[in-house]
Amino acid sequence: MRSVILPVAGKGTRLLPLTKVTPKELLPVFDKPVLQYAIDEAIAAGAERLVVVSHRMKPAIADYFNEDTKAVAALRRKESHDLADRLEQAGADRRIEVRLVYQDEALGLGHAILCGADHVLDGPVGVVLPDDVILGRGMALVEMAEAYRGGNMVAGMEVAAADVSKYGIFDLQGPVASGQSAPAAGMVEKPAPEVAPSRMAAIGRYILSPDIFDVLRAIPRGAGGEYQLTDAISRMIGQTDLSVFRFTGSRFDCGHHAGLLAASNARCAERAALPDARIVAA
Ligand code: G1P
Repeated sequence: MRSVILPVAGKGTRLLPLTKVTPKELLPVFDKPVLQYAIDEAIAAGAERLVVVSHRMKPAIADYFNEDTKAVAALRRKESHDLADRLEQAGADRRIEVRLVYQDEALGLGHAILCGADHVLDGPVGVVLPDDVILGRGMALVEMAEAYRGGNMVAGMEVAAADVSKYGIFDLQGPVASGQSAPAAGMVEKPAPEVAPSRMAAIGRYILSPDIFDVLRAIPRGAGGEYQLTDAISRMIGQTDLSVFRFTGSRFDCGHHAGLLAASNARCAERAALPDARIVAA
C-alpha cells in the first residue's frame, strides 16, 4: 500500500458553528487536529503518497500541509525547541508526497475515492476517513497492512442493533476475533435493522484492490442518492475477496460533538500515561 487517500471534502454541517470557518478535520482532539491523526496513521502504515481529496471552500486544509519554516526558525532562535518540533511535525513528513485534489460536488464517498484515482501509485490503495479517530496501542491501518493478503479489506467494529443504519454492514460467515481478519460474503450500506446481515459495521479504514476504480466508474447512485464505496466493494465479490479486520483500538466519531469530546478525553488520558507528559503538565 504505497498511497493513502484522505477524503476531506465534507462540509461538516453537523458541527456548525464550529465548522463555520474551521474545517471539521482541523478541529482539535486534545493536542492535535483530527486530520493529523489520519496523516500519522497513514504514514505509519507505509504510505509514500497521501492523496487529499478536499474542497475549494476549505483552503485551510491546503495551508495545514504547508511548512512554516520561518516560524520554526523563529521558535528555534528563542530556544523553544519543543514548540518548533511540534510545528515541524504538523502536516506530513517532507519525504511523503502530498497530492491535493478537489471534489467539487458532494456525490458520496465512492465519488471522493474516484477523484483520487489518477493520483495513486501502483498497488493496493489505503483510505482513511479522518472523522473516525481510532486511539489505542495499535493504529488500525497499521494492523490492517500487516494482516493484508490481497483483495479488499475493511475495518470493522460491532455496533448496537439500533445503530446499524448509520454504517456499511458486513455479511459475515462467522465471528471475528479482535486483531484478526475474516472473510465477508458482502456489505450493505446503511441497512434498516430488520434486514441488516450482522452488527459488524465498516469503520473508516480500507485497503482496496486497485480494480476498485473501474468498478466505482460503473456503479449507479446508491443509499442517499450518492455513489457508495460499499456498493463497489460488494459488486467486486466473486472476483475480488472481501475481508473484515476487527481493529484493536477504540473508535470515536469525530463528526459529532460528543465524539470529539470523548476522543479528546481519551487522548488526554493516553498522554498522561506516557513517561513524557509535558503537554498535559503545561
Ligand atoms: C461512511 C461509509 C460507511 C461507513 C462509515 C464509517 O459513511 O459509507 O459504510 O460505515 O463511513 O464511518 P458516512 O459516515 O460517510 O455516512
